[in-house]
Amino acid sequence: MSTTDAIAMLKADHRAVKELFEQFEKAETKREKAKLATQAMTELKIHTQIEEELFYPAVRKALNKAIGKAEATSLMDEADEEHHVAKLLIAELGTMKASDDHWEAKFTVLSENVLHHVKEEEGEMFPQARKLDIDYDALGAEMAARKEELKAEGVPTFAEQTLIAESGIADSPAEMTRMH
Ligand SMILES: [Fe+2]
Repeated sequence: MSTTDAIAMLKADHRAVKELFEQFEKAETKREKAKLATQAMTELKIHTQIEEELFYPAVRKALNKAIGKAEATSLMDEADEEHHVAKLLIAELGTMKASDDHWEAKFTVLSENVLHHVKEEEGEMFPQARKLDIDYDALGAEMAARKEELKAEGVPTFAEQTLIAESGIADSPAEMTRMH
C-alpha cells in the first residue's frame, strides 16, 4: 500500500484523532483540554470535508454499481448523517468557551459520536470500498493536496455553523445550556 492510498490516509487520520480524544480524557486542566479539543476539531473539520468532497462521492458512485443503489444509499447516507451530527456539535462547541456549562460533556459526546462513525467506516464502508474499482492512489493524492489547501486556507463555513449562528443561541451560551 502506498503512502497516498486514500483508505490508509483516512485510517491514519482516525488514529490521530483517537489519540487526541484519549489525551483529552487524561488531561487534568481545562486549558489543556481546550487546546486538545481545538486540535481535534480542526482535524475533524478537514477530515470530514475531504471525505465529503472527494472520498464519499467516488465510493458512493462505484458502490451503486457494485452492490445496488438501495444498499449503497443506506450505507453512505448513514455516514453523511453521522457527519452532520458531528458538525452540529462542532458548530455549537465553536461558539462556546471551555469554562461554559456543558462544554466538556458536549465534547465527550462529539468524541463518542466520532468513535462510532470510525467503527462503522472501518468495519463496513472501507472493506466494501476496498473491493471497488477505484484508483485509491490517485484519489489519495488528490485528497492529500486538498488537505494541504484546507490546512493553509481554513475549512469553508459549513451549513451547520450557519444554522447554529442563525438560531441565535450562539450569542448566548446560557440559552444553549438551558436547552438541555
Ligand atoms: Fe467520516
